[in-house]
Amino acid sequence: MSEAANLFADGKAYERLMGRWSQLAGAQFLDWLDAPANLKWIDVGCGNGAFTEVLIARCAPLSVMGVDPSEGQIAFARTRPGAKLAEFRVCDAQALPFPDKSFDAASMALAISFLPDPNKAVSEMARVVRPGGIVATYMWDFLQGGGTPLTPLGVAIQSLGLPPLARPNPEASRRETLQTIWEQAGLRSVATRAIHIRVSFSDFDDYWASNSVPVGPSGKALAEMSPPQREAVKARLREQLPIAADGTISYDAVANAVKGVA
Ligand SMILES: C[S@@+](CC[C@H](N)C(=O)[O-])C[C@H]1O[C@@H](n2cnc3c(N)ncnc32)[C@H](O)[C@@H]1O
Repeated sequence: MSEAANLFADGKAYERLMGRWSQLAGAQFLDWLDAPANLKWIDVGCGNGAFTEVLIARCAPLSVMGVDPSEGQIAFARTRPGAKLAEFRVCDAQALPFPDKSFDAASMALAISFLPDPNKAVSEMARVVRPGGIVATYMWDFLQGGGTPLTPLGVAIQSLGLPPLARPNPEASRRETLQTIWEQAGLRSVATRAIHIRVSFSDFDDYWASNSVPVGPSGKALAEMSPPQREAVKARLREQLPIAADGTISYDAVANAVKGVA
């Protein structure tokens, strides 16, 4: 399994960290795609099925093939009550084991920046979708300043001089880069947009329990720290997070989305 897939090997921990935020952004993304019902979908980098569940609820697909190289994520996806319609398979986005034109639509939620070769993955999505079908993705905006659900944790870690977080391909989260990748894959009518969500936690303990699970770049970095280093990160977060008078914590996160026609 690739290093990037190892980052997310625990589907239950991923659910605590990111599942609900992917679903919030995913709902806006799917409204924007405005796809008809009864399509054959492939959900690439489906992870633990968080987005797949929203896809099934909102788009009434005929079928969904969820693929991801992480066996731990796929094992969790298979247990999701809202994803029973989907079939899940372990495989790599950059070499999809399906014939040309097998699907009507391909989605990839929050995965493109974790791929070594995003262009290859998008040309694979374009290959397996029939002419006229949809190819689309969304990814947290790592570089353009809107923030992601994990930005406060990343800022706290880096402000302590600890190693920067591993981001395999942050450049692929830019709107302009997504536009170019889609055009280079031969997709037509390419459009992009930003998606804004509000991330909220009931209190600091909820924030810490959600964000310190050992998955993703920041979770892995925390897991490798000494206990005093982790305590220093916690203390820094208490200073830097926008904690309201009632103890709740909330802030904005932005994803960039792109869609095109095969
Ligand atoms: C941040 S998670 C997103 C999961 C899910 N789509 C969601 O919206 O919650 C990133 C996913 O990309 C997957 N991934 C990493 N390398 C991959 C590859 N080469 N091909 C397909 N997926 C990959 C990881 O295993 C992980 O499940």
